[in-house]
Amino acid sequence: MSNRGRIFELLDREEVISGEAIGELLGISRAAVWKHVEALREDGYEILSSDEGYLLKGFSGEMNELEIERRLDTEVIGGDVVVLGTTASTNEELKSLAAEGAAEGTVVVARRQVEGKGRIGKRWESPEGGLYLSVLLRPRMAPTEAQKMTLLAGLAVARALRGLGVDARIKWSNDVVIDGKKVCGVLTEMSAEENAVDYIVIGIGINANTDPGELPEEIRDDSAILRDELGGEIDLRELAASLLEEFDELYVGTQDGNFEEVLTGWKELSETLGREVLIETRRDRFVGYAVGLSRDGALVVELPDGDFRRVTGGLCRHLDSY
Ligand code: BTN
Repeated sequence: MSNRGRIFELLDREEVISGEAIGELLGISRAAVWKHVEALREDGYEILSSDEGYLLKGFSGEMNELEIERRLDTEVIGGDVVVLGTTASTNEELKSLAAEGAAEGTVVVARRQVEGKGRIGKRWESPEGGLYLSVLLRPRMAPTEAQKMTLLAGLAVARALRGLGVDARIKWSNDVVIDGKKVCGVLTEMSAEENAVDYIVIGIGINANTDPGELPEEIRDDSAILRDELGGEIDLRELAASLLEEFDELYVGTQDGNFEEVLTGWKELSETLGREVLIETRRDRFVGYAVGLSRDGALVVELPDGDFRRVTGGLCRHLDSY
């Protein structure tokens, strides 16, 4: 944890602590402590100072790194958190950081995106109120296995949302839905050598406190807004932290060889399995029944002639119940 984070923890104790004591605990000067305190104030923390020392009274600022980091108890995900105000796209931002060597688990969060990217080249409208974040992974796996990470992300989001009390389910491959309406989309982007992944960036966009009027008309009726489902404002810091914790648990397990947990969890929350689906890939378009998920995360579709197809990408539309 950064010195600023550690100072925050020392201040967050309902009792006054002197600058000298903080300095001694951290091995820094009182002047350095004062600089960190000033920076915390600029971030929106109300910190009282008296002859005895400092006391944290409250927070009235925007989401920031510390507000996420202090809620996190993770092994890999969120080791570094970058919070931006407005950005083009958190995926683009994180890809630049990845190319410069950013560590696995680095997370970029933005309050608003002006060029948010959706799947198949679509735009992801990203007004203030939504949660927009990207996670950097450097998994030991072949590029052909990247699909696993998309499933993992969808499951992590669904679990985090279920933790808030909504019946979130997963529509293959990466939409999280409530009552069939999309509340979250996941965009996976990868940089790879022939046989090994260099990095994967998983971008997650959630309609949390989004004003539906700011969503494009053509998707408005098919979108769910978390705040409306729950009848109250969503704390984006809490949501980001719980999502990253679910993500971390599943990711660490997968890297230890237990992808089974993701497969089982995903199947339990699947909105797609057992349904008639229309699949559209770059090369193909066909109808069939979604009958299973293969061990590497591909959707298994039974065609009308009884053949089976493995689907690893493209769009999936639900037609009927099985
Ligand atoms: C989809 O089309 O369903 C995927 C949408 C993914 C949107 C997220 S928001 C955070 C990250 N940054 C982006 O530019 N896109 C993803």
